[in-house]
Amino acid sequence: MTAQIDFNDRMLSLGLARVSEAAALACAGWIGRGDEKAADQAAVNAMREQLNKLSIKGVVVIGEGERDEAPMLFIGEEVGNGEGPGVDIALDPLEGTTLTAKAMPNALTVIAMAPRGTMLHAPDVYMDKLAVGPGFEADVISLDMSTRERVEAIAHAKGCKPSEVTVCILERPRHQEMINEVRETGAAVFLIPDGDVQGIIHCAEAKMTGIDMYMGSGGAPEGVLAAAALKCMGGQIWGRLLFRNDDERGRAAKAGITDFDRTYSRDEMVTDDVIFAATGVTDGSLTAGVKRRQGYVETETVLMRSKTGSLRRMIYRNPIG
Ligand code: FBP
Repeated sequence: MTAQIDFNDRMLSLGLARVSEAAALACAGWIGRGDEKAADQAAVNAMREQLNKLSIKGVVVIGEGERDEAPMLFIGEEVGNGEGPGVDIALDPLEGTTLTAKAMPNALTVIAMAPRGTMLHAPDVYMDKLAVGPGFEADVISLDMSTRERVEAIAHAKGCKPSEVTVCILERPRHQEMINEVRETGAAVFLIPDGDVQGIIHCAEAKMTGIDMYMGSGGAPEGVLAAAALKCMGGQIWGRLLFRNDDERGRAAKAGITDFDRTYSRDEMVTDDVIFAATGVTDGSLTAGVKRRQGYVETETVLMRSKTGSLRRMIYRNPIG
């Protein structure tokens, strides 16, 4: 039986949503408490507990870090009850730890699952990222283009002026030059304080979000998660690992990476069918955050499958005593 036949994504997707919901519920109590680590730990514990209830032979390929620095959901950790298909798991139990600690919008729990051996084992280093939504020719832009060339290429492909293009970028001092260059073309910059998985997802719904393109560096694990989301929604992403020192190159080598300068396309980061779930922790542009109401607590989850291109928005109400 091939991995693809074995991967029952239709049935597993609901289980994946449960994992993501549980993590959001668990860390909601930490919103605005100023403790990033406690919030992240609560999400990790809940995600792991739920993952272990699923009928999968799962391996965490994108997780909380290496075994010696992450007691749980470390890279290589086996999860699931061991009885189902072999799968790769990429997760970020809390994407936006600072956003949560400060009660700022757009914190999410994020998880993706695919057949075993089909997701890039990206080490915890930075990645140079570039993304656009669906409807553009393959390779309409590239990481080798200058910032100006990218904006002009997207404007040309859209049949509009550069001033009608909007680019999403993480607000960081390292991106200041890029931000200036985008603005010099006349294009607008949509700055985000954190959370580039969501920033990249916004490109897939450009008509709703007004964001045409994402560029800049952020976590490599988040790059693979964003590739999984775009594989479900449509759109292209390219990523190139960035190394600051030999320790980081060593991490990549340990993950099996031999070409340190390689540019990965979306389908090279996620090579087969994938399912993706994200639940809002704080209110955001993708989902509502966790809400405590009279008698129940409510979450909103986005659940997607690349095989069908389907997207579900799921509201979950959990009674409280
Ligand atoms: P955390 O939730 O793990 O803190 O990540 C938030 C995030 O903004 C990611 O979305 C992004 O890829 C990364 O941090 C950027 O890293 P840095 O804050 O070092 O620029």
